[in-house]
Amino acid sequence: MSTATASSLDIARVGRATRIRGTIEVPGDKSVSHRGALMNAIAHGRATIDNYLTGADCMSTLECLRALGVEVTFDPTGGADGKPLVTVVGRGGLLQEPIRPLDCGNSGTTMRLMAGILAGQPIFSVMTGDASLSSRPMARVVEPLRLMGAKITGRSGGRLAPIAMEGGNLRAIDYTSPVASAQVKSCVLLAGVQAEGVTIVRSPALSRDHTERMLKAQGANIEIDGTTVIVHGGAKLRAVDVVVPGDSSSAAYWLALACIHPDAEITVVNVGMNPGRTGFVEILREMGGDVEIRNERVIAGEPFADLVARSSRLHGVKVGSDVVPRAIDELPLVAVMALFADGVTEIRDASELRVKESDRIASLGRELTRLGGQVEELPDGLKVRGGAALEHATCETLGDHRLAMSLAVAGLAGAGVDVVDAGCAVVSYPGFWQQVRSIGGAVALSDEGVDPA
Ligand code: S3P
Repeated sequence: MSTATASSLDIARVGRATRIRGTIEVPGDKSVSHRGALMNAIAHGRATIDNYLTGADCMSTLECLRALGVEVTFDPTGGADGKPLVTVVGRGGLLQEPIRPLDCGNSGTTMRLMAGILAGQPIFSVMTGDASLSSRPMARVVEPLRLMGAKITGRSGGRLAPIAMEGGNLRAIDYTSPVASAQVKSCVLLAGVQAEGVTIVRSPALSRDHTERMLKAQGANIEIDGTTVIVHGGAKLRAVDVVVPGDSSSAAYWLALACIHPDAEITVVNVGMNPGRTGFVEILREMGGDVEIRNERVIAGEPFADLVARSSRLHGVKVGSDVVPRAIDELPLVAVMALFADGVTEIRDASELRVKESDRIASLGRELTRLGGQVEELPDGLKVRGGAALEHATCETLGDHRLAMSLAVAGLAGAGVDVVDAGCAVVSYPGFWQQVRSIGGAVALSDEGVDPA
């Protein structure tokens, strides 16, 4: 855990909810917030990012940008309807050499996207992170950036943070990424737009395309052909105002809860519907989930919709490579839903889960079993047999925000759960535990003086 994520909230005691109803607006999208700040920092002009996510990860990005000499202001209620507003004054392509290491906290997106930006800058910089981030693979971005000419050293030969970089004078590459990762794709594109020549990034599958959309809006010359993206270097990027949609990964907790609970209906408004992020809704529907998509619209280049989910009879499904990259952050929830579904659910081709904020295959296998689930760990995923009688348990999260919130969903619809280190939810979802209450869930939080023992 980074200091930014440390919280006095150690345990959330979640009870089984009898009835779930409500309308929720989730906080701003993590991926779009990061990109709005990072990409405007190297543009020309001033940009506003409305509904910026105040989660610890996105605040780490703002701190790093400040250390790079970027003028960043943050007004917690300055946006439309009192939402958080960030203003970034772009440095027109030239960042300031930082005098201290850039602390990316728990945020893989900060480190990997910023690596692409720093690679194009003629400055020396060091990126660090917390224990979790320091154990996550960085070779996937270091290798292509070295091929482009960036001088990078780091722990374990540059495979792990801290990473030290001397950038500038990049040459374009034609790069085939071995992983279907939006972070890798975005890193190479952000380096490519600062390089000499035409950079091509080929990916094994579609993933979120927020970077491509934003680069286009900023005036970059960018073409997309299936899973291949081509960007021309040397464009003068202009600042673009961003309206951040509600985070679809945060909305997913409520959609899952509504579908697995026998007496539930939840509406989530203003949710981002980027095609690289809608895999979870596809899986949920395939499982038999009653999810309605209403009021679809496009705002500032990103699709939005309102979603309504209700109690459903779910059945097991097979989840594989065609959908995994488009539902990667929601797979813990798919495993939770599988506990409540008829039959067996198999999640395969998902070994990327092993290198997220925790090894999510191992941690889900262990914690869902503690709750009474029949869960088998596979090298590249999980096999869950639905219908086992669930029991109350105390579950560990290892500081993994998505694990903490997914376990809460399991407890609300199952037999309750005590989530240890529950404060880590703030990494992506400030206000999560309060919103659980707003839809009818009972939660006792240890930092409110409720003795959880
Ligand atoms: C993200 C991409 C995903 C996702 C992460 C955010 C992004 O990672 O897990 O939470 O903003 O690009 P990968 O692209 O590495 O799978």
